[in-house]
Amino acid sequence: VDLIFKRDIKISSRMKKIYEGKAKITYAKSAHQVVAVYKDVDTAFNNLKKGSIKNKGVINNSISSYLFDLLNNCNIPTHFLKKINQKSQLLKKVDIIPIEVLVRNYFAGSLSKKFGVKEGTPLSDTLIEYCLKSDELGDPHISSEHILNIGLCSFDELELIDEYSLRINDILRGIFYSIGINLIDFKLEFGVCKKTKKVILADEISPDTCRLWDIKTNKKLDKDRFRRDLGNVEEAYQEVFERLNIK
Ligand code: TMP
Ligand code: ASP
Repeated sequence: VDLIFKRDIKISSRMKKIYEGKAKITYAKSAHQVVAVYKDVDTAFNNLKKGSIKNKGVINNSISSYLFDLLNNCNIPTHFLKKINQKSQLLKKVDIIPIEVLVRNYFAGSLSKKFGVKEGTPLSDTLIEYCLKSDELGDPHISSEHILNIGLCSFDELELIDEYSLRINDILRGIFYSIGINLIDFKLEFGVCKKTKKVILADEISPDTCRLWDIKTNKKLDKDRFRRDLGNVEEAYQEVFERLNIK
């Protein structure tokens, strides 16, 4: 890991940093491509809680690369081009649409809190919610009317975002179900491709951005272990990686 990480740094030092988020750093590669390097740092509740999870960058890069490759093959357009090394990916350059799309199959997290419904209670249908992507404002929940009125994206783009999100949910639920994991909910981000101007899936899909519960025991295999101080965070991420049988 150390050797590869040094190689990551070497790659990075030659390239211009264009964005540093909480989980990844993005470097310019060419007019239409960027390199994302995954970090081991973990934050929750918009930076109020910070920590470092051993090997998180390597594990999340592997899981996200695997899932994005699969989605590409299922004709979901994504920014993912290829995994470069243990911590880095080559991506299509996008302008991120500043919306977090929350896709839910069961009550959990903020939805359980809002309605006072026990976590793990099934929803009668898949629920899509949106948050404004803004650390300063604490990612407030917003409606589709807010999105369109404020002009965060166009009507057609939002329609595509919803359509892709539901298809992605179907694909991911199946994948996780086949390895004994219930996909409770997850977060997606979309961007407009610099080259084609089309809406494509961006960011990452990993135990940081999903709630993943073991089907038999309901054991949490995701970032809630970190958010709620449940312990064995790295082991949980590692277990998801191993169950996916990523080569
Ligand atoms: P929530 O229950 O806290 O609203 O989160 C729903 C899902 O979205 C959960 O799997 C965590 C994920 N999520 C993120 O990855 N980043 C975020 O900023 C938020 C608000 C949620
Ligand atoms: N708000 C998200 C969480 O609680 C992400 C973050 O703040 O880093 O996990």
